[in-house]
Amino acid sequence: MDVFDAILNRRTTNTAFIDKKVSEEDINTLIKMASFAPSHFNCQPWRFIIIEDKELIKKIAKIGGDSMTQLMDDGRFWKQYRKYFRFDDDEIEKTKDGIHIDHMPAFLKPFAKQIFSEAGGKIISRFRVSRILGNDEEKLVADSPILFAIALTKDEYKKEELSRFYSVISMGAVIQNLWLSTTALGMGMQFISTPGEIPEQWEKIVNLLEVPDTYELAAVFRMGYVDKNMKRPTIDWKSSQRKSPEELSFRNRWK
Ligand SMILES: Cc1cc2nc3c(=O)[nH]c(=O)nc-3n(C[C@H](O)[C@H](O)[C@H](O)COP(=O)(O)O)c2cc1C
Repeated sequence: MDVFDAILNRRTTNTAFIDKKVSEEDINTLIKMASFAPSHFNCQPWRFIIIEDKELIKKIAKIGGDSMTQLMDDGRFWKQYRKYFRFDDDEIEKTKDGIHIDHMPAFLKPFAKQIFSEAGGKIISRFRVSRILGNDEEKLVADSPILFAIALTKDEYKKEELSRFYSVISMGAVIQNLWLSTTALGMGMQFISTPGEIPEQWEKIVNLLEVPDTYELAAVFRMGYVDKNMKRPTIDWKSSQRKSPEELSFRNRWK
């Protein structure tokens, strides 16, 4: 696949993956492509854990689902992220950023804007929105053929040192290499970020994966082969808009 096509076709996969084991060859390709990312002084501050064990995936899925429900129930998620939510085509066409929550059960539609607002707590509990989202998250992760985790060495990922920033930039390059490679292989990937919002939940994953104290577990993704016809989750979003080059970039000086 041409690199430009891969960049333009890359998308976050919100749906389930098809029920197919990821081949050893494809796993090795992903690890190799990830390893070719740039890093400061070529220090390669990362280590990767590929999780195929069904029981382990199920346990992480439960942590993901519980974290999602917990974040919804305590209202933190909406307060923190409300500014990114769009509810109709006009809104997202205007801002060209954020995520368009365009898919939800019919009974929720009349309340969409209230649910995704600070005052939405009552509606969230009345319609069990946190449970719907938590269950969807758990199922999506549990049914994923593999999870891919990235840990950064604390020799580089050090508090208040520039090397911490460099390590995160380097990991970003790894993630993009992975994302483009999955695209080329007919696969998809999705961040499992919700447990990262709750330190106790993240620690559970660290312990399950037996990440040593010398490494920081930094990111976990689910991966598998995609099929465009897979059913969307109960509540879902899309976000393919991008701001124009004119809006995003300047020549020589700011503005
Ligand atoms: C740091 C970071 C964290 C993200 N966390 C999540 C997440 O928890 N769940 C999810 O579905 N997508 C997550 N995403 C994906 C973004 O929502 C997505 O990249 C963005 O909406 C653009 O959509 P696209 O990837 O389909 O182009 C994350 C992306 C980044 C870079």
